Amino acid sequence: MKETLQAILSEVESAIGGIATRPEFEAFKATISGPNGKLTAAMKGMKDVPKEDKPAVGKLVNETKTQIEAHYTDALARIEAAEVASRLGPPIDPSLPSPDTLQGGLHPLTQTRRKLVDIFRRVGFTVAEGPEVETEWFCFDALNTPADHPARDAQDTLFIKPETKVGNVSRHGKDAESEAYLLRTHTSSVQIRTMLAEQPPLRIVAPGRVFRRDTVDATHSANFHQLEGLCVDKGVSVVDLKAVLDHFVHEIFGDSVETRLRPSFFPFTEPSFEMDIRSANLGKLSNKWIEIMGCGMVDPEVFKSVGYDSEEWTGYAFGMGVERIAMILHGIDDIRHFYQNDLRFLRQFVA
Ligand code: PHE
Repeated sequence: MKETLQAILSEVESAIGGIATRPEFEAFKATISGPNGKLTAAMKGMKDVPKEDKPAVGKLVNETKTQIEAHYTDALARIEAAEVASRLGPPIDPSLPSPDTLQGGLHPLTQTRRKLVDIFRRVGFTVAEGPEVETEWFCFDALNTPADHPARDAQDTLFIKPETKVGNVSRHGKDAESEAYLLRTHTSSVQIRTMLAEQPPLRIVAPGRVFRRDTVDATHSANFHQLEGLCVDKGVSVVDLKAVLDHFVHEIFGDSVETRLRPSFFPFTEPSFEMDIRSANLGKLSNKWIEIMGCGMVDPEVFKSVGYDSEEWTGYAFGMGVERIAMILHGIDDIRHFYQNDLRFLRQFVA
């Protein structure tokens, strides 16, 4: 009996290392421990062992069984590990650089916004912010925009249902509590919020998202981005406005770009202008006058609505579309590219 058990154990020990797959393992295990297996047969032989030898032989049988089962466990673990490894493919070295060539990067609008803001920061402007959900007072009334101005029409402005509760957007003006909420149509509302929160002199730029009921096409989007600017100080004139904006244009489009101020109209500036640029190096737009922003001298009515003395304070303001600047800068012909998340477009802007 002892020899039989020893022989079975030796057979297991020599064979088990060469077993590589689960079916092989199961087949081999059946020849040892299955109903017709060798170990099973040996255990059945216990009944023929003389009574006095039974304890010792029984112990030996149990020990052998335990050892064999330990070999099974090891072999199974090894086979499973090999199965997992073959599913994972070749071993990986996590310290190697990624084979993916797209490293990720900032969205072209983010890059452009940062460029614009940086230029103004270097000449003394700080960054201000305001909410995207506004009241009519901040978006229109305080900016000297009369109640019947077409921009306030539901055609252009997205209003929010009157019963909607909107976080902590601060209200202002005589009908504050009954005022409608809307999605701001321009960042000029931040002029008002800043002038109420701070005292002059002021120099701020306010980048942010704006909303209009525009039909989407190559140059219109119902939501886009603007950069607002406001300077309030003593003795500010159109010369200061022109100097700062010329500096800005030369920083972003290059020194050879020409600029011009063309008379225009905004309710909150007087006089008002459109700034146009012309350059020989703007691809399809070369040598044409292109409108890039609205601007003007802060209207005394605006100072009145924030409680500034318009005899003492003067100022200029400007507002430009971030998409428009990015399109001119990069020769992009359709505003929708910015919002479609097409990697073929976006990866061109990865530095
Ligand atoms: N708010 C104007 C617009 O959205 C732009 C502007 C800003 C014009 C500041 C003058 C001064 O078109």
